[in-house]
Amino acid sequence: MFKINDNYQKLPGSYLFSTIAKKVNAYQEANPEKNLIRLGIGDVTQPIAPAIIDALHGAVDEMGHAETFHGYAPDLGYEFLRSAIAKNDYQARGCDISPDEIFVSDGAKSDSANIQEIFSVENKIAVCDPVYPVYVDSNVMAGRTGTYDPATEMWSDVIYMPCTKENNFVPEFPKQVPDMIYLCLPNNPTGTTLTKDQLQMWVDYANKVGAVILYDGAYEAYISEDNVAHTIYECEGARTCAIELKSFSKNAGFTGVRLGYTVVPKDLKCDDVALHGMWARRHGTKFNGAPYIVQRAGEAVYSDAGKAQLKEQVAYYMKNAAAIKNGLQEAGYEVFGGVNAPYIWLKTPDQMTSWQFFDYLLETANVVGTPGSGFGPSGEGYFRLTAFGTYENTLAALERIKAM
Ligand code: MLT
Repeated sequence: MFKINDNYQKLPGSYLFSTIAKKVNAYQEANPEKNLIRLGIGDVTQPIAPAIIDALHGAVDEMGHAETFHGYAPDLGYEFLRSAIAKNDYQARGCDISPDEIFVSDGAKSDSANIQEIFSVENKIAVCDPVYPVYVDSNVMAGRTGTYDPATEMWSDVIYMPCTKENNFVPEFPKQVPDMIYLCLPNNPTGTTLTKDQLQMWVDYANKVGAVILYDGAYEAYISEDNVAHTIYECEGARTCAIELKSFSKNAGFTGVRLGYTVVPKDLKCDDVALHGMWARRHGTKFNGAPYIVQRAGEAVYSDAGKAQLKEQVAYYMKNAAAIKNGLQEAGYEVFGGVNAPYIWLKTPDQMTSWQFFDYLLETANVVGTPGSGFGPSGEGYFRLTAFGTYENTLAALERIKAM
């Protein structure tokens, strides 16, 4: 009889956003007349920018002619896209990253789940708490997290670094030394971030203890403050300790288009084994490349017209973020984030648990958000709202919340 990967049996419940979708769908079915405003999952609402649509059309037309048709993409991504990324996201910021250190993929969610594969199951992971659930769940599937305690909602072999208002959402170096450290900055879910100096301390720490940092920069486009790093490679020494994961979903609205990339510097080694070669091997074996037309769309993100249009799109969402932050503050809520990220993190009122507030908001205001405890035990008593809705819906949601 075949055996299954038992680690899957250890996962408590379903994926956070699937659980929420089920709950919301059940509520909508029972109350078809209610007009729900969805500020839960961080999915964008603005259409793809015109410069990118033009590039998509052009690439689709190319696929229809024998002379310009493209079959399998190169394993690691087309040179035109890798060069545009290296030039704009790194070299323009003074960071020494070359195109052949960039691996193009179908998005940062898959990369952040898959990257753990090139590390030993013996490694101890450290995560911020609360945290984007994919990091923990993918390590559970791999058998790296030990046993789950439903009472504490913690895994025995995971090092949790609480990020709460008490420490200004800045993780402290853990007592136990980790091997793999996940950092998402600006942060999902809290919408807060670290200063460049604080990030430098993490890079120094990782190099000192021999840990690798898995750095998720999906929300980088939303940074508005000068003292925040746009990439971990702005920090000295990051080339020997950090892998960076990037997405086109949040800066360019590619949630339904799918494109991302991972940077693995050639200096990042375990003894004399370069992780670059391992990820290239993994990518080549298990992935057949992001579609040509999508990579052309990604290239257009870095065109002058693309950059200008996306700047406006980011500003649109950040206007929502400011409206939510200010509106909730006026209504007496304690609110965090929303300055360098499109997420607002609030304290639930009246000692409500995160899920109690989820139900209350859904039933009283018909607004969907995300319960903080879904991101980890230290998220209990907090709640996340996304700024990715339309401006009109965002204002309408605030009116409803204020009226509760
Ligand atoms: C979120 O809502 O946390 C994100 O949209 C999830 C994701 O990017 O996969």
